[in-house]
This record gives sequence, C-alpha cells and structure tokens, in this order.
Amino acid sequence: MVLGLLTLAAIPTTIGVAEGVNSQKGENDPETSSKTEAERMRKFNLECYCETKSRMAKEIDGGKVVLSGDKVYIDTQSSTKGHTFEGFYIGYPDPDRPQPPPLGLVSSISNDPPMLNWIYIDKDTREVKYGNRTQSKQHIVGSWGWDAGEEGGPGGVTLEGEEGAVAVETENGWEIRWEDKNGDIGVEGKRKLTVSLERKMLEPTEEEKQEQKTKAAGAIKTDSNFTLTNTTFQSNKKTTGEPVKAVKASIEKAKPKPKEPRLEFSSTTIEKPMEGK
Ligand SMILES: *[C@@H]1O[C@H](CO)[C@@H](O)[C@H](O)[C@H]1NC(C)=O
Ligand SMILES: *[C@@H]1O[C@H](CO)[C@@H](O)[C@H](O)[C@H]1NC(C)=O
Ligand SMILES: *[C@@H]1O[C@H](CO)[C@@H](O)[C@H](O)[C@H]1NC(C)=O
Repeated sequence: MVLGLLTLAAIPTTIGVAEGVNSQKGENDPETSSKTEAERMRKFNLECYCETKSRMAKEIDGGKVVLSGDKVYIDTQSSTKGHTFEGFYIGYPDPDRPQPPPLGLVSSISNDPPMLNWIYIDKDTREVKYGNRTQSKQHIVGSWGWDAGEEGGPGGVTLEGEEGAVAVETENGWEIRWEDKNGDIGVEGKRKLTVSLERKMLEPTEEEKQEQKTKAAGAIKTDSNFTLTNTTFQSNKKTTGEPVKAVKASIEKAKPKPKEPRLEFSSTTIEKPMEGK
C-alpha cells in the first residue's frame, strides 16, 4: 500500500525532469533548469558592465541601475539619480497569456511604503520601463532570466535567454533600451553602447554562508598532518573539546627533527676557507 503511494507520487516528478532535459531551452534558462524558486527570489542590485575600453564605456561601466520617472537608467557620476534597482524574479500573473506565465522581473520603487513594480520593455519604443500590472500588461514583461556568470558568479540579465541591453545617452542621462531580434532599439543618431546588466547579489546563499562559517572557524587544514593554529584558537577550544592535545600535537610535529639543523650546518661552506689555511 505504501509502496503504491510512493510510486504514484514519483511519476509526475520523473516526467517533469524528463521534459526539462529534453527542452530546447538553454540549461541556464531559469524556467526549465533546476533553478529553484529560492534562487529566482534572491534579491540583487544591477550594475552596468561593458567590455570596451572606450571613453564612453568608462563613463558608464560600473554604474548602478536606477529607476527614475517611468524608465530605467544607468547612474553615472554626472547623470541620473533615482531609486536604486533592487529586485528579483517571479512569475508574471496573467491568465490571458499562454501558460505557464513568463518569468517576470520586479524591483522596489520606494522603501517607505515598500512597493514593487514590474520591469518591462515598451513594445513600441524598446525602452526598459517599470510600472504596475496595468501599465506593463500590454508590453513585454518576460521571460526574464540570467546568464551563468564567470566562475559561477551571478551573470547578466537576459530576456528570452538573450542579453540585449543597450545604454543610450539622452538629456536625462544614460537610459536603457532592449534590442529586438533585428538589433533595433527604436532610436537612431544617439551615442549608444551594448552593455550587460550584471546581478550583484545582496545576500549570500546558504551554501556560501556555510563556507564563510568554516573559514571563520579558525584552523586551516593542510594536506599534511600539520594544523596551523592561530589567534582564533579560542574558538577551536569550544568546538573540538580537545584543544590542548591538538595544539601540542601540531607544535611537536611542526618542530624540525633534532638532527636536521646539525646536518644543514655541516653542509655549509664555512669549513672550506678553514681548510684552505
Ligand atoms: C497603475 O499605475 C497607474 C499610474 O501610476 C495608476 O493610475 C493606476 O491606478 C495603477 N493601477 C493599479 C491597479 O494600482
Ligand atoms: C598522517 O598521519 C598518519 C599517521 O601517522 C599517516 O598514516 C598519514 O599518511 C598522514 N597523512 C598525511 C597526509 O601526511
Ligand atoms: C592568523 O591571524 C591573522 C589575524 O587574525 C590572520 O591575518 C592570519 O591569516 C592568520 N593565519 C592563519 C594561518 O590562520
């Protein structure tokens, strides 16, 4: 009876996994990969990154993404100030769209009272904007996602699996637009630059927290049997329960064998000038 129940429960999971694997979408697509709800809902700021070393790139590289008016800008030293983007991913609720719902991107727009808005692309102008559901519904609201960053770090924001952010210089500062499939950003004759909107995570994952704890615990284990102890020894005392023994052992082993110094001494060249006399 119990076995029957388990088998039944296991079937949908198996099918779900198989579909995920067979999907044509990239492994990093948050919708189909093993990325969990918790991973999507991790909060982050956005920072502009551009590869080129031009003067223009230097102006905006590293600038944080801010919200101002109804649009999204890059905050440079000389330009736009606004509410710093602070957001995460969550399904866009819209029964009129094909299900499952696209993955939406939200950001806080004010801290007091705390309010969230949807980040969307104006389908007519290609400007990246923010607004409530009514304002965003008729535009491009997802699916947003993220690239795998270098060395597993957080990467750039994507739409339908592709990065497409372009910084465009306007009177109000560097606004962000999003390329369509033909590379069109709805405006011409302005200074512009393809950029990456990099996620800067606001909190470490549980895994990272664990790693930090391990590091903070003090003793550094090496490949050998020697344990390097340090001023953080006190914390060892509490956790291991056998501190004195451990330290004694490491000190004894760390000491060179008694014969070694003599051996070194006799092999120096000091004796040779004596012989020459
Ligand atoms: C959405 O925002 C617009 C413009 O700020 C406002 O007029 C409208 O009442 C808002 N809708 C809802 C449901 O909050
Ligand atoms: C640590 O010491 C044990 C016992 O003396 C020995 O068997 C082992 O090989 C040592 N390990 C390393 C990495 O030196
Ligand atoms: C010893 O402690 C100092 C300061 O607390 C730290 O900078 C250093 O890395 C530590 N060394 C080891 C081997 O733990």
